Amino acid sequence: MTNHRAGPIPRSRVLLLGGTSEIGLAILAALDPGADVEVILAGRDGQRLAAAGKTLHRPVTVARYDAMDTASHQAFADEICAGGVPDLVIAATGILIPQEQAERDVRLAAGMIETNFTGHVTALLAFGGHMRQRGSGTIVVLSSVAAVRPRKFNPVYGAAKAGLDAFARGFADELHGTGVRLLLVRPGFVTGRMTEGMDPAPLATTPRAVGIAVAAALRGKKSTVWVPAPLAGLATAMRLIPRPVWRKISR
Ligand SMILES: NC(=O)c1ccc[n+]([C@@H]2O[C@H](COP(=O)([O-])OP(=O)(O)OC[C@H]3O[C@@H](n4cnc5c(N)ncnc54)[C@H](OP(=O)(O)O)[C@@H]3O)[C@@H](O)[C@H]2O)c1
Repeated sequence: MTNHRAGPIPRSRVLLLGGTSEIGLAILAALDPGADVEVILAGRDGQRLAAAGKTLHRPVTVARYDAMDTASHQAFADEICAGGVPDLVIAATGILIPQEQAERDVRLAAGMIETNFTGHVTALLAFGGHMRQRGSGTIVVLSSVAAVRPRKFNPVYGAAKAGLDAFARGFADELHGTGVRLLLVRPGFVTGRMTEGMDPAPLATTPRAVGIAVAAALRGKKSTVWVPAPLAGLATAMRLIPRPVWRKISR
């Protein structure tokens, strides 16, 4: 871990898994943690993490974390928690690889599932265990509208998100009553690096809007937040569309 922190000893800690994520950073910006909160950006590239930290205009700690190195996640969580169990863990790692590429090299498909699903399960079980032992903490999971129904254009991404969404709901129920809260976030199409070059879907939103919605949800008691909120209704409709029609209209 590289410590870029200066000033008072932190009273609480916030950890962003996927420390360069546009959405994750927007959540942190919207939360605007005080100077006494230690913000830890975890990811695979130190330089990108340091650059991401600068956008927050505050000192940050940078930690090495690879979502695909699932065997290291328990030790990673133990190491972070030895310095104080984070009060908030935001799970924002993710990759979106075009389906044609995943079909040309199926190892890319495996990587997409590891990054978007398996790695979240292993990391969140490990951090959730520490939080449960302490009796407090909050976990934010970035699911997606893609979890609602698979589309022929990205079945691997959709399947990974559906797995993550199911895990998050079950884990939230397991944690209920332990003092640990899990907030499940389901954004729609978010304009940004991940969706660069793609035509915006209906109800497209921005990282900033997701950040503001998550910060508001964290101040309340919700267990799930859709961004934008009307997406919840659209998702219900999406589930009801007969499959032959869905096949034709989904993009
Ligand atoms: N953008 C959308 O339309 C959208 C919609 C719904 C849900 N989401 C979800 O929201 C989350 C954040 O997305 P975003 O829009 O903020 O995307 P982003 O800016 O591309 O961020 C993705 C993050 O994942 C990290 N990452 C990828 N592979 C990793 C690995 N093996 N180990 C560690 N970190 C890794 C990236 O780090 P590097 O700097 O190392 O690449 C980056 O920090 C993702 O889970 C995404 O699926 C996005």
